[in-house]
Amino acid sequence: MFFYNLKIFLLRLMGYEKPLRVALLKLFSLKYKSFRPHYETILLEASLEAKKLGYDEITILELGVAGGNGIISLEKYSKNIEKKLKIKINIFGFDTGKGLPDTNLKEDVPFIWKKGQFKIDKDKLEKKIKSKIYFGDIKETIKDFAKINPKNISAIFFDLDLYSSTKSFLENIEIWGSFTTPRVYCYFDDLFHHNYISNFNGELLAIKEFNNVNKNFKIGTHIDHVADFKFPLAKNLLYTFHNFNHKDYFKFIGTDNSNLMSINNKKITYNFFKNK
Ligand SMILES: C[S@@+](CC[C@H](N)C(=O)[O-])C[C@H]1O[C@@H](n2cnc3c(N)ncnc32)[C@H](O)[C@@H]1O
Repeated sequence: MFFYNLKIFLLRLMGYEKPLRVALLKLFSLKYKSFRPHYETILLEASLEAKKLGYDEITILELGVAGGNGIISLEKYSKNIEKKLKIKINIFGFDTGKGLPDTNLKEDVPFIWKKGQFKIDKDKLEKKIKSKIYFGDIKETIKDFAKINPKNISAIFFDLDLYSSTKSFLENIEIWGSFTTPRVYCYFDDLFHHNYISNFNGELLAIKEFNNVNKNFKIGTHIDHVADFKFPLAKNLLYTFHNFNHKDYFKFIGTDNSNLMSINNKKITYNFFKNK
């Protein structure tokens, strides 16, 4: 058995496509639950884009809060970003409070998620965070949330696990769609769960159905590209929500580098906080 276990271990090690440093980053994120480099970089890029658009206040949502490690890390990262970019970041969470809802839909992949999983200790959580959590089914609580007129939703962390819950939120686009920035960074945590989640179930199906019925809103993703280095641990889980009717959709947010491209300019300067 020892040699068999060793063989499987070596096969996995050699078959892992990512460099060791990525594996280490992943390992740290598993060990330290509020170490989330992807949350930090998404928050940073969303804030940078908002500033380019001229917004000084943004709203960030975490859909599915559970123990609260996501919200805790978002609050931690937002402090430095608020200071650095002079922007106000409002964070809101959504959760039933009672764990995953019951389901018998095959699209919810019920053989990996079960009713009541990720139940919250509300008192404990509320002592640890400042952000408001909307408790209840998201298809109802999203209506209460809209009443506060949230400013510039610019990043959404989707972590509801289930197809039906993700769909419930997305199909309420008429409620939340008018509060977004022209584009919204969308991180989908559950696009991969070994080989069980694919394009006919889970979040991928909810995204596909959303795109099929909406003309003015789309959720798209980019191709894997060597120039994409900004989102450690989020690369294949990052989508962008486009709000084509937004008044600022066409506003230029790129870098006017005509000067840099000039034949007279020998040196290229790169600023992590400015260049796209
Ligand atoms: C995996 S947990 C979230 C983990 C958390 N984001 C983190 O990073 O630690 C999924 C959560 O989604 C919540 N959830 C699922 N469906 C929901 C719905 N329809 N309305 C509100 N919350 C829901 C569950 O209660 C559960 O706590």
